[in-house]
Amino acid sequence: MHQVNLAENIFYLGFNDRKTHLFENLWPIPHGVSYNSYLIVDEKIALIDTVERNFVDQYLEQIEILTNGRKVDYLVINHMEPDHSGALKAVVAKYPDIILVGNKKTFDMVANYYKITKNTLEVYDESELPLGKHRLTFATTPMVHWPETMVSFEMTEKILFTGDAFGSFGTLDGGIFDDELNLDHYEEELMRYFTNIVGKYCPHTQRALKKIETLDVKMLAATHGPIWRSNLKYILDRYENWSSYTTDPGAVIVYGSMYGNTEKMAEVIARQLAIRGVKNIRVYDASKTHASYIISDIFKYKAFIVGSAAYNNELFPSVETLITKIEHMGIKNHLLGIFGSFGWNGGGVKNLQKFAENIKWELAYEPVEEKGTLKADKFQQCIDLANAIADRLMD
Ligand SMILES: Cc1cc2nc3c(=O)[nH]c(=O)nc-3n(C[C@H](O)[C@H](O)[C@H](O)COP(=O)(O)O)c2cc1C
Ligand SMILES: [Fe+2]
Ligand SMILES: [Fe+2]
Repeated sequence: MHQVNLAENIFYLGFNDRKTHLFENLWPIPHGVSYNSYLIVDEKIALIDTVERNFVDQYLEQIEILTNGRKVDYLVINHMEPDHSGALKAVVAKYPDIILVGNKKTFDMVANYYKITKNTLEVYDESELPLGKHRLTFATTPMVHWPETMVSFEMTEKILFTGDAFGSFGTLDGGIFDDELNLDHYEEELMRYFTNIVGKYCPHTQRALKKIETLDVKMLAATHGPIWRSNLKYILDRYENWSSYTTDPGAVIVYGSMYGNTEKMAEVIARQLAIRGVKNIRVYDASKTHASYIISDIFKYKAFIVGSAAYNNELFPSVETLITKIEHMGIKNHLLGIFGSFGWNGGGVKNLQKFAENIKWELAYEPVEEKGTLKADKFQQCIDLANAIADRLMD
């Protein structure tokens, strides 16, 4: 394989996964994903994170080549999720004297997941690990997105190894560094990765960003996706905006509808928003579009307008799944509109109102609920709902 240098004697050691359909058995990855590990070869040799289990053989082989058969001294564990610790056991088996570098929470996990308890080196914020010409220092970034997550900073070349922070879905198709590829291709997958994997932990991400600001970082090397060395502002600005719930004027309209009555209300609302000059409007059928795409768009746009048919006294199931996810993620600072159709005693809008209470977003207009097909009175209310949202988005 090509030898890929981040700097002299600092190597990229990652693999592309184009086979897996669902990341974490949950998130669709049509463009695949890469698992990035890194290797520093100096007087001491250090690996930074490992890779997913399926790549173990190739991984060990590459280490052997890049180290010229020398022993690896340290394995720095920035993150314990198995997509990065998948080769940990194999690495320890091959290099029995290797020292595992992590924080208190890391080693609890190493013991619990891999039953390994020896040769550990606990580090703290600003601890230093000299390797020769290169030196590593550390900063914990709790809950970005696991309790043990931390970042490691190589002080000579000023490279920050960030774990999943700044990571992206999408394989590295030849280009590995940001300046080697067209970032337009990664924009959506970068955001879908952040919003769905890390997005529950926006306040923690804000704290991590503040910590990172104090370092003079020249390169961001995450465990998924491109390495950022030319356009750090591109990724840092996005992380700042997303983790502070900064949105553009626009609306995401989502509905759950069996026979099209609720859907029709969504169409009316969308059209009226457009008439009022709102250009960013996304309409989704909750049963068809995977929640990860919808959640990503909710982080993009200020208004969320959600409709549900009544279904056995409850919400339509796909809408229920989506709003439960949104509630669990605790997304903030949005405008809300709700609507739906029912046949006899309702259940859709009623439960959307509970969602409104729980999520505490500002309800821009009263809920619009129609019995059966959309008629003149409720048509006008859909228009009024759209106008109320547009008033807020366009001012
Ligand atoms: C399986 C099923 C369960 C339903 N359960 C309820 C219900 O509990 N309460 C109610 O008011 N209407 C219920 N309805 C009626 C629908 O909510 C109503 O027909 C509505 O107009 C459907 O909207 P849609 O065309 O957007 O699917 C049910 C319909 C179906 C097919
Ligand atoms: Fe992770
Ligand atoms: Fe990961």
